[in-house]
Amino acid sequence: MMNHSSIDIIEDEITKSLPGNSYTDLDIFEKERRFLFRSQPIMAAPSCHLQKKGSYTVTDIALESIITIKDKDGLPKAMANTCRHRGKRLLKDNNLNAKDKIDSLKSIVCPYHAWRYDLDGKLIIARGDESGSLKGLCLRKLQTQEAGGLTFYHGSSRHFKELDELNKVLGTHSIENGKISATKSYKVNANWKLWTENFLECWHCAPNHPELSENKGFINQFEEGREDLYIDDDINWREKAEQGGWTPPEEVDFQDTDKMFYFNVSLPLGKGKLTASKTGQRLGPALGTANSMEGGAIFACMGPFLFYLVYVDYVIIFAIRPVSVNETNVETFWVTSKDFNGTEDDLTWLWNTTLQQDIELVEETQKGVSSLYYLPGPFQGDEYRTQAFTRWWKKWYQKHKA
Ligand code: FES
Ligand SMILES: [Fe+2]
Repeated sequence: MMNHSSIDIIEDEITKSLPGNSYTDLDIFEKERRFLFRSQPIMAAPSCHLQKKGSYTVTDIALESIITIKDKDGLPKAMANTCRHRGKRLLKDNNLNAKDKIDSLKSIVCPYHAWRYDLDGKLIIARGDESGSLKGLCLRKLQTQEAGGLTFYHGSSRHFKELDELNKVLGTHSIENGKISATKSYKVNANWKLWTENFLECWHCAPNHPELSENKGFINQFEEGREDLYIDDDINWREKAEQGGWTPPEEVDFQDTDKMFYFNVSLPLGKGKLTASKTGQRLGPALGTANSMEGGAIFACMGPFLFYLVYVDYVIIFAIRPVSVNETNVETFWVTSKDFNGTEDDLTWLWNTTLQQDIELVEETQKGVSSLYYLPGPFQGDEYRTQAFTRWWKKWYQKHKA
């Protein structure tokens, strides 16, 4: 009978990084477009963006464009952004940058021949249709689901109970009552999986992210083998948080199902930092009832396309939007309390700086894995989540490669 260490060795030997064609092959990307992107929950926007009847956003993933909109009853609806006449995209703008003026619609009008749809996607005026026979045509519908103050859509009919975990992690922050104080979209010339793999490990942080390492003491504590200092910080942070009435959510590390995976871990920032900012000082009021979490952070993901970090005064959400086999957009949302009145530069400084560094790492990795000389390499201990993701993806691919 094998003991655990021999199983571990065998697994380590098998589980190397993915073969180069997973990041470069058009047929593989096409399979992902058809069967993976459509079956996973996709976060359209934080729900505070979709408050009013007719408020909407547009999400583009590969060749698909999806409208998520509040209908006349105040429910989120998702539908294909493709006109039922001759297919024109109906709405162009994602409507996320107009901070002072978030557009809301009374109906959706196709710019091409002016067919008009109601907020549920039902065709109400079909120019040229004198018989009235086209009434009843609808934009193609997708499912929606709200959890943790975020609005998702997906092409599957199932209710993703995994998303309910978000209520436990984000519940005390009430981000549905907050506001989006900044958004940025980052274009990355790399396959989406390289971005996801990069975000699943922070082993690259010490050598690549000096600003992040300065803000988050634990990065260098781990690097220098000073877990004793980390443990002191952790105990102190948790005690203070709980005394103040905020309890960290139960930790869940890489839970992997057939359908999706997720994790959430909480950590002290250390070195007296209260939040993720240039000075380590708070940038605004606490979100929800999380005031006593200052000095710590939650790091989490929900499926391969959504990562988020939670601090006392803001939540930063990274939505990974594959564009093509070698291009990915990372749409980033900074959600604060409604009463936040700090500057966008202060709010975005740390993560904007860190993301530029990640973009370079990931783009250079895309070049490396495209080389005829690339061979899958062995994961190291601290890359266990990245390793678990590649296993998850390989299982998905085995099922769909035929
Ligand atoms: S394509 Fe939309 S009205 Fe003609
Ligand atoms: Fe990074």
